[in-house]
Amino acid sequence: MLGIGQYFSLELGSERLERFSKNLPIERMHAAREDGNVVGGAGAFPFEVTVPGAIVPAAGVTVVGTYPTHRRRGVLRAMMRAQLDDVHERGEPLALLFSSEETIYGRYGYGLASFAGEISLPRESPFAAPLEPRGRMRLVEKEEAQELFPHVWEAVRPRVPGMLGRTSDWWEYRILFDSPDTREGGGPKRFVALETDDGPEGYAVYRHRPKWEHFLPAGELDVVEAVALDGRATAELWRFLLDIDWAARVTSWLLPLDHQLFHLLAHPRRMGFRIFDGLWARLVDVGAALSARSYAGEGSVVIEVEDAFCPWNEGRWKLEDGEAVRTRAAADFRSDVAMLGSVYFGAFGFSELVRAGRIEELSPGAAVRADSLFAADRKPWCPEIF
Ligand SMILES: CC(C)(COP(=O)(O)OP(=O)(O)OC[C@H]1O[C@@H](n2cnc3c(N)ncnc32)[C@H](O)[C@@H]1OP(=O)(O)O)[C@@H](O)C(=O)NCCC(=O)NCCS
Repeated sequence: MLGIGQYFSLELGSERLERFSKNLPIERMHAAREDGNVVGGAGAFPFEVTVPGAIVPAAGVTVVGTYPTHRRRGVLRAMMRAQLDDVHERGEPLALLFSSEETIYGRYGYGLASFAGEISLPRESPFAAPLEPRGRMRLVEKEEAQELFPHVWEAVRPRVPGMLGRTSDWWEYRILFDSPDTREGGGPKRFVALETDDGPEGYAVYRHRPKWEHFLPAGELDVVEAVALDGRATAELWRFLLDIDWAARVTSWLLPLDHQLFHLLAHPRRMGFRIFDGLWARLVDVGAALSARSYAGEGSVVIEVEDAFCPWNEGRWKLEDGEAVRTRAAADFRSDVAMLGSVYFGAFGFSELVRAGRIEELSPGAAVRADSLFAADRKPWCPEIF
């Protein structure tokens, strides 16, 4: 794994590497070699991801790279081949990733599956309606955060497509971990719990980036992660974060497109909400993946799937009563497998992709029918880059 530093421009000291490997089983790391020497690598975390109505195993593709001396010679292609074959053999129906460049992974069947928003808004930004707090905010140390926060996460994640299961090592070495060399000029991570008599209802991880100009605070409070059980708890949590002293602005990123702040704030425009691509998803086993999630409506669709990189998926699939089976029936759509990654979590509808020429509609009206079948009540959200 030491080779990862070569292509990620990181000085991977052994302590950092050790921390990283706590969550990546060594057998999930592929290395590309030339004459026995490593020239590239690709890893996969064994995840569970929420999809509409279910939680399914997924490969979380990570630390992909080719040494600068060996680029544009097919090393990535060879690693993607080995990795997707391995994921398929393991029976994980999905592979997920965040991409350093949006041009890389479409050719291997990954489609854009969620968006991520970045905000920066003035401290004390008012809410549109008054809020009577019901809970209490309490700063906690890392050890207590490790106890409390997973309760909230576990209650929320089954409801939000794109959220991942987290082991206690994931909490300890990734979410709650903090050291001066990971702060990028900011202060230490702070942990705060929102509690009522019923227990924890929300939490936030944040840090200050202090700065003073003319005796006035000009710094930022950066919200690393804020998760709450329901709408009221989300409002209370953000009210607290927006009102913390000694910051001019509150910043955050990796927020979902349906974030409640759009409705809470009196001036949502002042968030300057900017959108980036988030999760990319690949249906490694089309039949298993389509059968794993739930569907909103009745009815059926038949999709002719094109998948040059994983030909075991090619052919016609009928989706009916929540099951995808091979069929000889006439197809409603012809689609590259990457576009199924884009509709799977609910980031896009069939109609949008048909309009954009990325899915071919073969029977009139099929896109509208498929849109209501695939509809999900929450936008996909993956609050962390892996
Ligand atoms: C991106 C990276 C892994 C590509 O590796 P590589 O071994 O040079 O890629 P390959 O030679 O196998 O090329 C595979 C295909 O991707 C294309 N490609 C490679 N890098 C690309 C890039 N940065 N942007 C667009 N296309 C790219 C190639 O043209 C080739 O296309 P083709 O199969 O249609 O002919 C490599 O440039 C790298 O390590 N970059 C820095 C780290 C990084 O960005 N990793 C990805 C983290 S998500």
